[in-house]
Amino acid sequence: MIKTSVFVATSLDGFIAREDGRIDWLDAAQGMVPDGEDCGYQDFMATVDGLVMGRNTFEQVLSFPQWPYGELPVVVLSHQAIALPAAISKTVTVTAESPADLLARLAAAGRQHLYVDGGKTIQSFLATNLINEIIITVIPILIGTGKPLFGALPQDVQLAHVRSRCYDFGFVQHHYRVLNCSLNATNQSPI
Ligand SMILES: NC(=O)c1ccc[n+]([C@@H]2O[C@H](COP(=O)([O-])OP(=O)(O)OC[C@H]3O[C@@H](n4cnc5c(N)ncnc54)[C@H](OP(=O)(O)O)[C@@H]3O)[C@@H](O)[C@H]2O)c1
Repeated sequence: MIKTSVFVATSLDGFIAREDGRIDWLDAAQGMVPDGEDCGYQDFMATVDGLVMGRNTFEQVLSFPQWPYGELPVVVLSHQAIALPAAISKTVTVTAESPADLLARLAAAGRQHLYVDGGKTIQSFLATNLINEIIITVIPILIGTGKPLFGALPQDVQLAHVRSRCYDFGFVQHHYRVLNCSLNATNQSPI
């Protein structure tokens, strides 16, 4: 069965980006992080065999100097046609499938652990009970307004706290398991 995880950084007031998509505050916060510390990101990435992201996140990642996901298969959710740069056209696909249909297809193709990224995308997976675990790194800043990590839900999402870690440079990372996730509950070992 397939497992889905969110691994994301937010401001203390719950935003993943400014209204216009900028993450300058997050980039600046990286300056607090000692060399060699990545708050568990590489260990997490070593557990995933696919990434699903929204178009807005994809466009942000495309603006980075280098594509950061190597050969990892990436699915971009969009209702638009997207012209993919040749360098990533073998690993990136675009779809407008529903989260449920997409997960069913990827599970049938043998995928076991998907990283789900992007605010709207995470919200649409949570709204349909399709997220297994949430790992949030809270950055010590208030940005007042922006793109929220969470949004309206058709039902409550019940969480179990797995652990929290306070970094001495000020980040706090919370790890939750989603209790009412409709995906297989036996495949939820914490990273
Ligand atoms: N702080 C962090 O750790 C972090 C992590 C990830 C992203 N970000 C930032 O967050 C911003 C992006 O977040 P966002 O909330 O704007 O959303 P997003 O999820 O990245 O992108 C939303 C878009 O994805 C498409 N989409 C989402 N769900 C879909 C579905 N079920 N079916 C079809 N298409 C779907 C739609 O594209 P169309 O309009 O093309 O249909 C929608 O407009 C960026 O600025 C990014 O840098 C921050």
